[in-house]
Amino acid sequence: METFNVCVVGAGYVGLVTGTCLAELGHHVVCVDSDPKKLKVLRAKRIPIYEPGLDKLFQRNVHAGRLSFAGTVEEGMGRPGRRAQVVFIAVGTPPRADGSADLSAVEAVAEAVAKSMRDYTVLVDKSTVPVETGEWVSKTVARFNRKGLPYDVVSNPEFLAEGTAVNDFLKPDRVVLGVTSPRAEAVMRKIYAGIKAPILVTDVKSAELIKHASNSFLATKISYINAVAAVCEKVGADVTLVARGMGLDHRIGNQFLRPGLGFGGFCFPKDLEAFYWLSRQKGYDFHLLKAVKDINEFSKSWVLRKVEENLWNLEGKTVALLGLAFKPNTDDMRFAPAVDIVRMLRNRQVSLRAFDPVSQAIAQRMPELKGVRFCPDPYDCVKGADAAAVVTEWPQFRDLDLKKVKRLMRVPLILDGRNLYDPAAVRAAGFTYCSVGRP
Ligand SMILES: NC(=O)c1ccc[n+]([C@@H]2O[C@H](COP(=O)([O-])OP(=O)(O)OC[C@H]3O[C@@H](n4cnc5c(N)ncnc54)[C@H](O)[C@@H]3O)[C@@H](O)[C@H]2O)c1
Repeated sequence: METFNVCVVGAGYVGLVTGTCLAELGHHVVCVDSDPKKLKVLRAKRIPIYEPGLDKLFQRNVHAGRLSFAGTVEEGMGRPGRRAQVVFIAVGTPPRADGSADLSAVEAVAEAVAKSMRDYTVLVDKSTVPVETGEWVSKTVARFNRKGLPYDVVSNPEFLAEGTAVNDFLKPDRVVLGVTSPRAEAVMRKIYAGIKAPILVTDVKSAELIKHASNSFLATKISYINAVAAVCEKVGADVTLVARGMGLDHRIGNQFLRPGLGFGGFCFPKDLEAFYWLSRQKGYDFHLLKAVKDINEFSKSWVLRKVEENLWNLEGKTVALLGLAFKPNTDDMRFAPAVDIVRMLRNRQVSLRAFDPVSQAIAQRMPELKGVRFCPDPYDCVKGADAAAVVTEWPQFRDLDLKKVKRLMRVPLILDGRNLYDPAAVRAAGFTYCSVGRP
């Protein structure tokens, strides 16, 4: 297998997984990050994020000399004897206040690559970006590539999910390559030669749209089942059964049909927002996406609504939040529904206690969560509480000693925002129990 010298710019959830997995496939990879704290951790041979399975691969490839780190694109691309042939852009594309994607980091990387390249270079955009970004990257490279060296820009969107990122990268459902030349396509096919998956080759714009359209579709599926759950609550039906009945139809499929407290994380909310913004900017009002957003906001208010229904006056009451991360198996707190749930309850003068097995250290530093009392374990968290709300379905919450929980709480009320428990079992243990869309 032909191997390449690869530079991955941005060593976050996507960049570090990409760099590590490409090294595992045999390529020589330098991960570049401009955050000095992150770089220090990486150079000390540790990973700065929580991602199951990543550390083992990381250690193996660092020790094999296939994975190293740099603080600038110039340094990362110019390793002696190993000048980068392919540069992956994996920097953040955060939302601006108006919902559009902030692409300034992508532009900065394109400029730095143009100034550092010495031969034909393939720039691969792995960050999630709006359609037409590839054209802008290409224009930027042309502007700063003073010697007129040949280059190609490829769109290679990433579909990994935090928590299962390594497996998702190495065994993806598909690899999408948006290319402008057969030369770039050939390089990219060789980069991914070690991965068994269908490769879809498209033009750059279609590849960019595949990512936004896919994430917005998955977000739509979540909001759809959350809306169905709201109807189930009104009529006393069970959304779990409804979802099962829907999911058995192979045209629908059973994934992403779990109701809950709304979607969060760094991808769905911002990608939905950016896709909606872009469609409008181009002259099409994609109002379905607006409805998906509105349903998601409503879903995040479920805990507040249930607290109101059960506890009458909220001032001075205490709610224990079990879990804070937007989903289990990640420490990522970006756009986690927990942040909105805290805001809504605090606005009503509710005292808050919280426990999360992994994201707590990050959560404690967030200004939005100031005033929340963080607890060392779930039992301490529910102590004296008037309600315990399951916000993240961490598997360890499933095994809680419910007798002990009941003894510790002031009011035995469980608001199961992730449908983690069996309603009959919790009620038999003496709790008032509410779950999403189930009687
Ligand atoms: N997190 C996910 O699950 C996921 C999945 C698929 C796609 N994506 C997309 O991938 C992109 C990256 O997401 P992420 O979650 O890895 O973000 P992240 O914030 O974890 O990582 C981005 C990294 O880029 C670094 N960076 C920013 N500007 C830089 C520059 N000019 N030079 C070098 N480093 C720079 C930051 O310090 C940071 O470490 C986003 O566009 C995101 O939408 C994310």
